[in-house]
Amino acid sequence: MLVNRIAPSILAADFAVLADEVAKVRPAVDLLHVDVMDGHFVPNITLGPPVVRSLRKHTDLYFDCHLMIEEPGEYLDALKEAGADGCTVHYEVGRTAELLAQMREMGLDVGLAVNPDTPFEAYEEYLDRIDMLLVMTIFPGFGGQAFMPEVMPKLARTRDALRERGIEVAIEVDGGIDERTAPIAAENGADTFVAGTAIYGAADPLEAAGRLREAVDAIAKRRER
Ligand code: DX5
Ligand code: ZN
Repeated sequence: MLVNRIAPSILAADFAVLADEVAKVRPAVDLLHVDVMDGHFVPNITLGPPVVRSLRKHTDLYFDCHLMIEEPGEYLDALKEAGADGCTVHYEVGRTAELLAQMREMGLDVGLAVNPDTPFEAYEEYLDRIDMLLVMTIFPGFGGQAFMPEVMPKLARTRDALRERGIEVAIEVDGGIDERTAPIAAENGADTFVAGTAIYGAADPLEAAGRLREAVDAIAKRRER
């Protein structure tokens, strides 16, 4: 059984004082979720290797880079060199087998992301070669969107398939995750919870991250009983 992990998304943080924003939540979180967008795969532009490199000097947190870009293969080296620990590529950009192998070869933790409308059957064959599956609970591109509960059956099906096959793959959810929705995702198999607005939009981000953990751990404890 994987332990729950909390991943603040810096997309919702103040980019002008990023290092402070990360330090603020550090005691309550496990990963830093770094959203890389290229204006092509999604209609928004965020940051890339230079910002990852700058941030790396200020924190020992694991960097979980979510690549919403059309040509992830061209940036993996630069991201690794800048300090990324794991990268997640989208199934929808194609060349999945090739990209997963490239990340494995480079020594990056290997993640695969799937949009809300990508069916289980599409990514099923890759489950045995990844460290983490990112099940999007919104269509990617922007923070602050509403959680899509209709993705939950796919999440549960993925969890069940992993159990049946006896493979340990982390399941991350991203989009509209807060104290109300995170437990729903936890019930359906998620163990890694990305939250932008719910953490950085709160008056006290550290406390908000702590509350999110309590909410998902309560589900795990109930299951143990
Ligand atoms: C959106 C990004 C998310 C985003 C989530 O495409 O992948 O990581 O920051 O933001 P919230 O938590 O506000 O939905
Ligand atoms: Zn993300």
